[in-house]
Amino acid sequence: MHNRMMITGAGSGLGREIAVRWAGDGWQLALADVNEAGLRETLDLVRTAGGDGFVQRCDVRDYSQLTALAQACEERFGGCDVIVNNAGVASGGFFAELSLEDWDWQIAVNLMGVVKGCKAFLPLLERSRGRIINIASMAALMQGPGMSNYNVAKAGVLALSESLLVELRQVEVAVHVVCPSFFQTNLLDSFRGRTLP
Ligand SMILES: NC(=O)c1ccc[n+]([C@@H]2O[C@H](COP(=O)([O-])OP(=O)(O)OC[C@H]3O[C@@H](n4cnc5c(N)ncnc54)[C@H](O)[C@@H]3O)[C@@H](O)[C@H]2O)c1
Repeated sequence: MHNRMMITGAGSGLGREIAVRWAGDGWQLALADVNEAGLRETLDLVRTAGGDGFVQRCDVRDYSQLTALAQACEERFGGCDVIVNNAGVASGGFFAELSLEDWDWQIAVNLMGVVKGCKAFLPLLERSRGRIINIASMAALMQGPGMSNYNVAKAGVLALSESLLVELRQVEVAVHVVCPSFFQTNLLDSFRGRTLP
């Protein structure tokens, strides 16, 4: 039975909502975020909804924190069936205003965080014939002005997901990519940049 899920960025917004949704079906949830207070609130909501699990501080920029999270899933759940690479930050600004540090930060979280999540959990997912769900954005498909670094990161998540979709079919790991438009969360709290898109 598939009922073990890891979610990054689970301390707020979409990650929290996904956790509570699957808690209602009794799933075991590994909840990761840099926001530890948010994680504790999510775990309370998960338990109220009928699920259970654990929280772990994990910065998706740091591969060793993701491999430690995969290890924790091994120890507590005996593996993992679904990962949701959801952690993300917002940024904006016209290209002339964006610094190279802005680019590095955006790519490190929103793109490489997803690459590292997939890589750290692949051995577990191969064993469970599990599922990767990557949260990209409508920005991966329609590149609006004033947010080039966000657009590039999200287009990268889409390209990664489509590459893995084909590559991982032979090991029976499914891959999905989600491209939502705007919805109300705390995303703008992480906003860096001079221009709001
Ligand atoms: N809200 C929207 O309109 C919208 C639209 C399209 C896509 N998305 C994507 O949905 C995902 C979730 O965003 P949200 O809207 O729920 O925002 P949110 O800010 O409410 O939640 C994002 C969570 O990610 C966490 N996070 C940030 N950097 C992290 C890091 N380095 N390591 C671990 N966790 C980190 C934050 O602490 C936060 O709890 C993001 O990938 C975002 O780009 C959001």
